[in-house]
Amino acid sequence: MTQAKIWAVVPAAGVGKRMQADRPKQYLPLAGKTVLEQTLNRLLQAEVFSAIAVAVSKEDPYWPKLECSKHEKVITAAGGKERADSVLLALKSLRDQASDEDWVLVHDAARPCLTSTDIHFLIESLKDDEVGGILALSSHDTLKNVDSIRITETIDRSKIWRALTPQMFRYGMLKSALEAAEGNPAVTDEASALEMQGFQPKIVEGRPDNIKITRPEDLALAQFYMEQQ
Ligand code: CTP
Ligand code: MG
Repeated sequence: MTQAKIWAVVPAAGVGKRMQADRPKQYLPLAGKTVLEQTLNRLLQAEVFSAIAVAVSKEDPYWPKLECSKHEKVITAAGGKERADSVLLALKSLRDQASDEDWVLVHDAARPCLTSTDIHFLIESLKDDEVGGILALSSHDTLKNVDSIRITETIDRSKIWRALTPQMFRYGMLKSALEAAEGNPAVTDEASALEMQGFQPKIVEGRPDNIKITRPEDLALAQFYMEQQ
């Protein structure tokens, strides 16, 4: 049996509405490069991926201008309406090269502070797993269920985790789970698509500096984390 390869998929076809900038947030400057270049550099530096499929919007004028779009390990795929559609299109772009048993790590373009430590820890933790799993963070704050503005109950914090990326699954399982869930708005990450198939992805504790750039203030925070790393 040949050894399973490891692929990366990077959804980068969002418009970054909450960022309220003049361009999609993955193309905003961060520590001398664009956010997307920082993210791809982190993945390339890990030296574990056979290739990285990046889903970008068809009308995206920024992507072809980035040097990394021509990198030998980078494959350009089309983006879709929702994040899950972009991920599925990127998976399909690997169809001729990937086999069902290969691993895929799906990682948001908007998470440029990912460390090699976390990539290797995730792979080490899951490489013998039946299903796969995700990097996640426990919650430090006390959590409340709220009915409009009034608290109805306090949630058992020990059972709540925040889903990060990368999320690591077998190529074949992930592709069919996303195909089965196409158009379902509840599929906001890869794990949720697998959950709908009855699987229970594993939780792997990640680093808190692996933030997703969502709002304007997150850029300064990402810059700070990068300087600290
Ligand atoms: N994404 C994508 N295709 C979409 C929507 C999102 O590839 N149709 C990507 C984004 O580019 C981002 C990641 O999925 O890297 C996480 O999504 P999010 O943080 O929500 O980014 P945006 O959708 O761009 O931001 P917003 O929701 O504020 O518009
Ligand atoms: Mg979004």
